Amino acid sequence: MTTPGKVGLVGSGLVGKSWAMIFASVGYEVWMYDIKQEQLDKAVSDIGLEVEKFEKEGTLRGTLPAHQQKTLIHVTTDLKECITGAVYIQESVPEDLELKKKIWTEIDGLVDSAKMILASSTSCIVPSLISKDLRHREQFIVAHPVNPPYHAPMTELVPAPWTNEFTQTEARTLMTRVGQVPVSLSRELPGFVLNRMQYALLNECWRLLANKVVSVDDLDVVMRDGLGLRYAFMGPMETIHLNAPNGAAQYCQTYGNTIYKVSQDLGPVPEAWKMETDEHKKEVEEITKQLETLYPPKDLDERKLRRDTCLAALAKLKRGLPK
Ligand code: NAI
Repeated sequence: MTTPGKVGLVGSGLVGKSWAMIFASVGYEVWMYDIKQEQLDKAVSDIGLEVEKFEKEGTLRGTLPAHQQKTLIHVTTDLKECITGAVYIQESVPEDLELKKKIWTEIDGLVDSAKMILASSTSCIVPSLISKDLRHREQFIVAHPVNPPYHAPMTELVPAPWTNEFTQTEARTLMTRVGQVPVSLSRELPGFVLNRMQYALLNECWRLLANKVVSVDDLDVVMRDGLGLRYAFMGPMETIHLNAPNGAAQYCQTYGNTIYKVSQDLGPVPEAWKMETDEHKKEVEEITKQLETLYPPKDLDERKLRRDTCLAALAKLKRGLPK
């Protein structure tokens, strides 16, 4: 089979495995590297089971059958074998700056083309911190997916100040080609975009819970059976544009002052996130207690499976709907 190229994946945990399946789904030759052979063996076995399950359920990505996708995935404990000749590298090692800098120094020494895209899956580390001392830092970019990447295709592309134009546009083209939905940032900033939005929401959730305005379950209903239903199909900006007969300007005219006034009532960032004092810990315990009553620790794996099954079904539904 002719392939569109070779990709090198560094790290074969939760995110590394997803990238392997995503690239293989459209025919890329995938080389996955890890320090532990057992981890690679487990990754191959997990991927095999998953693609077959997804094929049966109709949620397999790409056009190739599962058995062909599997044959495109190779594993190695030799970093050189993973990197040499690849058009794209995606690093997904644990979220630890020193570890990422170490592995990137090793990768940097193996880069054999000025066109090789060097991407990290990091959730929270800004790209300049990882790449500042690399020889090929102009080719470095963050490509941050969201969990589970196979069924939730958004990927944030975050450049460092020195990332070149080619890397930014080519990473975007490549993500689109493999079925991801890229979001390009013009510059790096803490939390990128997804986590800034998520944290803004979480802060208000926390204030409402800590002030005993609503229970954990009812608060989740607001998203699960309210806002979230819309947000699965359109973003908050299209939402406001559609929520007034003549679009966003009219929406702001009608609701702008209310939004401004209510926003002033929102309050500061909850201190409890820091988990420093007994008071912080007590606040966390009270909210956790409610969560554990609803979802006991013994049921968490089952709930995670349910989450991924629901997301797979939603992804399938969205693929069949008009854009
Ligand atoms: P994980 O812990 O599941 O996998 C990490 C993998 O890296 C393991 O296979 C481990 O053996 C391997 N590894 C450790 N040291 C290594 C080294 N020196 N060289 C090569 N491989 C090494 O971690 P996960 O969840 O896959 O996260 C990876 C990255 O993706 C992190 O930066 C994380 O922030 C980011 N991310 C995670 C998401 C999630 O929901 N788990 C979502 C989006 C991004």
